[in-house]
Amino acid sequence: MPKGAANDWTIPQNWAAYTPQQHATWDTLFARQAKLLPGRVTPEFIAGLDVLRLSKPGIPDFDELSERLMKATGWQVVAVPGLVPDDVFFDHLANRRFVSGNFIRRPDQLDYLQEPDVFHDIYGHVPLLANPVYADYMQAYGIGGLRANGMGALRNLARLYWYTVEFGLVNSDDGLRIYGAGIASSYSESIFALDDPSPNRIGFDLRRIMRTLYKIDDFQQVYFVIDSFEALLEATLNTDFGPLYEALAQDEDLAVDAITPEDRIYTRGTQAYARR
Ligand code: PHE
Ligand code: FE
Repeated sequence: MPKGAANDWTIPQNWAAYTPQQHATWDTLFARQAKLLPGRVTPEFIAGLDVLRLSKPGIPDFDELSERLMKATGWQVVAVPGLVPDDVFFDHLANRRFVSGNFIRRPDQLDYLQEPDVFHDIYGHVPLLANPVYADYMQAYGIGGLRANGMGALRNLARLYWYTVEFGLVNSDDGLRIYGAGIASSYSESIFALDDPSPNRIGFDLRRIMRTLYKIDDFQQVYFVIDSFEALLEATLNTDFGPLYEALAQDEDLAVDAITPEDRIYTRGTQAYARR
């Protein structure tokens, strides 16, 4: 545990210590996404931004944000010093606490940084936590994570997080929409994920996703598409992952650009971006 952190790895956000320049970095990132995302992101995300008053200028104060979030769905936001151990992370989620980094990227890192900062964690993840169904999914994921950890199946379950919470797309009458935080907090991937001919876009399938490798340092080569948050919650909550993990231990992993005969294909990608 880092110095100054509590047993559960939380630290004070120390909101008063942010500089005007750091608040301005948030505002710049926020304004860019606010302009880009309408019509691209799922409407529940926009609704969450509104309910939580995230358009208020500056880096949000976690206490104030938690108060609003608590009223909406009983979730809170707590600060941690970067990535935390898996069991700590899952335990927070299982108790409806979302952990967020408290630092913000430097002005020369607006477009990409590998470590999740407060903009990714709060802007990307927290709006949907104001949605009751999504909020329940995240808690269920935390409980499932504690179980998977004990069963040696984290590498499989982590892929579900990656391809839903971080990089998920959702189908709608008006076409595909973004809901994954890794997309919604990235200007360039918010365009790429929907518009680029390169990646595959494939219908959600639990076992398929948990077999699929992922790439952490570039645009995704495959996105999985859910029908709705209700369908996602239902599919995960009502499935006993125990037998799935056993079956998956026999399966071979699938490459990021794989297409299988069972895939429900929305778009078959050219993979031109990945091969460039
Ligand atoms: N039902 C899953 C299990 O049996 C738990 C889970 C729920 C995992 C929701 C992920 C998301 O382990
Ligand atoms: Fe994230």
